[in-house]
Amino acid sequence: MNSLSFPEDFLWGVATSGHQVEGNNTASDWWAWEPGKIEGGLTSGRACDAWNRYEEDYATMKSMGLNAYRMGIEWARVEPRPGMWDDAAFAHYEAMMESLSEKGIAICLTLYHWVLPKWVADQDGWENPATCDAFLRFVQEVVNRLGKYPLLWCTLNEPNVYTMFSYVTGEFPPEKRSLRAARRVTRHLLTAHAGAYSIICEGGSKSADPNSRPLIGIAHNMTDFAPASHSPFDRAIAKYQSKSWNSSYIEALVTGRMPGPFGDGKPIPGLAGSLTYMGLNYYTRRTVAFRPNGISNAFSQEVFPRGTELNDFGWAVCPEGIYNCLVELGKLRIPVYITENGVADANDSMRPRYIVEHLREVWRAIGSGVDVRGYFYWTFQDNFEWRAGYTQKFGLFELDPTDPNLQRTPRRSAEMYAKIAKANGITESISTKYLGK
Ligand code: FCB
Repeated sequence: MNSLSFPEDFLWGVATSGHQVEGNNTASDWWAWEPGKIEGGLTSGRACDAWNRYEEDYATMKSMGLNAYRMGIEWARVEPRPGMWDDAAFAHYEAMMESLSEKGIAICLTLYHWVLPKWVADQDGWENPATCDAFLRFVQEVVNRLGKYPLLWCTLNEPNVYTMFSYVTGEFPPEKRSLRAARRVTRHLLTAHAGAYSIICEGGSKSADPNSRPLIGIAHNMTDFAPASHSPFDRAIAKYQSKSWNSSYIEALVTGRMPGPFGDGKPIPGLAGSLTYMGLNYYTRRTVAFRPNGISNAFSQEVFPRGTELNDFGWAVCPEGIYNCLVELGKLRIPVYITENGVADANDSMRPRYIVEHLREVWRAIGSGVDVRGYFYWTFQDNFEWRAGYTQKFGLFELDPTDPNLQRTPRRSAEMYAKIAKANGITESISTKYLGK
């Protein structure tokens, strides 16, 4: 097997979000909601203490040969009360970004990764159209103060997952179960994205070409759906889910109208064409059989074909799924970045192969003409995995939240990923080891 090389200037990074790694995001809705809700009993707490340990963490990234980092900025931290900007918090984010820039690590900055200031949640969060205006004031402030740093702007992380968990299945705050609310929220999120796009176009850093626009996109969670059988019902439900989960958001960003079931088909001002790159978060394939069991089950049951490998979270591992998603995104004819891909695997027995097999599919998609420009592994260190707390381990580095020193211990896959980043591709020895001949 030969080595698989990637395009020049390809970004090799890791992805995180503010709330999951920083620790002590005390003015947020999640902080208030967590007690009693989180598996394993531990709330986000100190998380990885990334807020204080960033110098050490970024030095590790640099030593691994990584040239990109996806991080979040927590709205709750910089605007803990309405209209009150926390200068110290902004200065702290600036110091983090300065440190990354000095190390030659490009920044992908996520503006909204599911967590709101508590005061925004108390005003009905994304159900309230006023949240769009408040969000845009926050975005304007971020652009004014930190606009020169990010290479990539990610306005929203996975609006589909957020809306599903917070407003359909009710697993995340505010624990609603209402398709009507989900539609309102989707509309407001997309409105906020469109507004953020134009603010960042005005004020975000541009490349050498003065006419060029900054790289602005969303991180879209896509699942590769497959029917459980040849039955027309199973085929129809797989197709429907792929449309509603994957394609409808892409359609909305292209046409400016969000179709059903999460949209109302009416135009959203400024939305059409409001992105200069597309971010893909890919984890799994779902093989689905039709069941008349209601919208919160998406009228289906997941089945696992014989031999399906499952991660610790119970998600099916399916490398070719990332290829299928990339090919769909390739039709947009804009650059694509893999803003997340990873596996919950506490003992690191699957992760090295998971990474290599997914990267081979990324490489294949590039060969098929998809303009993929970067890959961010989720995640750097084990962190606060939302409702699953610290029970699911996605990190290249092991981290025990009860360890007073919060020691970061490299797993074997950290070393392997560093080799890939340094070689800008899958070396012959890695390929022989994990992909066979
Ligand atoms: C994604 C989220 C990310 C993390 C991974 C495992 O859906 O964007 O925050 O929880 O899943």
